Amino acid sequence: MNKQIILLPGDGIGREIIDSAKVVLNSVATEFGHEFTFHQHAIGGDAIDRFGTPLPDDTVKACRNADAILLGAVGGPKWDTVPAKMRPEKGLLGIRKSLGLFANLRPVKGFKPLLHASPLKEEIINNSDILIVRELTGGLYFGTPSERTEDGNAVVDTLSYTRFEMERIIEKGFESARIRRKHLTSVDKANVLESSRLWREIVNEKAKDYPDVTVEHVLVDACAMKLITNPSEFDVIVTENLFGDILSDEASVLTGSLGMLPSASVRTDGVGLYEPVHGSAPDIAGRGICNPLGMILSAALMLRFSFGMEEEASEIERAVGACLEQGYHTADLRIKDGKQVGTKEITEIVLENLTSKSVSDSISNM
Ligand code: NAD
Ligand code: IPM
Ligand code: MN
Repeated sequence: MNKQIILLPGDGIGREIIDSAKVVLNSVATEFGHEFTFHQHAIGGDAIDRFGTPLPDDTVKACRNADAILLGAVGGPKWDTVPAKMRPEKGLLGIRKSLGLFANLRPVKGFKPLLHASPLKEEIINNSDILIVRELTGGLYFGTPSERTEDGNAVVDTLSYTRFEMERIIEKGFESARIRRKHLTSVDKANVLESSRLWREIVNEKAKDYPDVTVEHVLVDACAMKLITNPSEFDVIVTENLFGDILSDEASVLTGSLGMLPSASVRTDGVGLYEPVHGSAPDIAGRGICNPLGMILSAALMLRFSFGMEEEASEIERAVGACLEQGYHTADLRIKDGKQVGTKEITEIVLENLTSKSVSDSISNM
């Protein structure tokens, strides 16, 4: 299959990890007889520096015509003082919005060898397998007005949602639960926010269409607590944009590191943008030590969700698992007696594990 893939490296470690995803995809292409063509475009701070805007028209146009998009990360201290509309993060928000990618899927599932790398006790995280379904193109991130008064002493951000926007993400939550363990936790702040009260009403209405799915409402503050005291009670969490952002970083510690978490931002027709959950990590950027596995696992999600390549996706996940089994890890993972390596080295080891599978396959097929 020939697929056109846009690469948006962005800033900081985004530039380091996108290369890892590319070589892993090239190896999968060779192994399975596909052709992946990569086109690199600018976004975020890199685009500000080169083109004077965090989201050049050319980038949007290329993404619209692509089969899928891989994004590294955007942002960094260099651009922290630029005007709000020009921030690198506006590039990311803009591409999500202009492509209509309203559903952000963030699977949080630990690899066995990393169980003890989590700051939480092993018996607490054991058996945790959560999918966070985060609304991605509405809420506080996009509401207007969002501004300061002229004297700078007052400020307003606007949380706005339409019924339509809530319905489609809540349906995505139910559909996701239906093909998993059939339990949906809807997270809101209905004791305070009107938006959350409408959200809760819609969840209750939709629940009638999914009698096979059990539904629970949890307030966001309590959810934050339960995620680290009893994570295995969750199956699918569905929530609005900002709550989903915060809860997914929190949930990432279950896997041992934020650097492990992949995500898929999709719309109903399968077009998607795939990016790790973490940011540009300016504190470690340029040192060759960052963890590329969240990015590599995002590439696996791309194969699965956008291209329907389930076997290929599972292959990448297996190779990542094998690499961790062998004790290899980057510096962000606290592993006793592990073999700490850099970004390039761990990518090489994933590649070796991909190839060793094909060798053992061909032997067993003889
Ligand atoms: P961050 O996720 O970049 O980093 C948080 C911490 O986790 C840092 O200590 C970092 O070193 C570590 N970390 C993150 N990913 C890692 C990886 N792959 N390997 C090893 N360590 C990793 O969050 P931040 O520091 O709050 O934000 C930095 C910049 O990134 C900001 O400009 C922010 O807006 C941006 N950001 C971008 C995205 C994105 O592009 N999707 C997501 C989050 C934050
Ligand atoms: C994420 C990031 C972004 C978000 C920022 C960089 C705009 O934190 O993808 O989780 O808040 O959505
Ligand atoms: Mn985030």
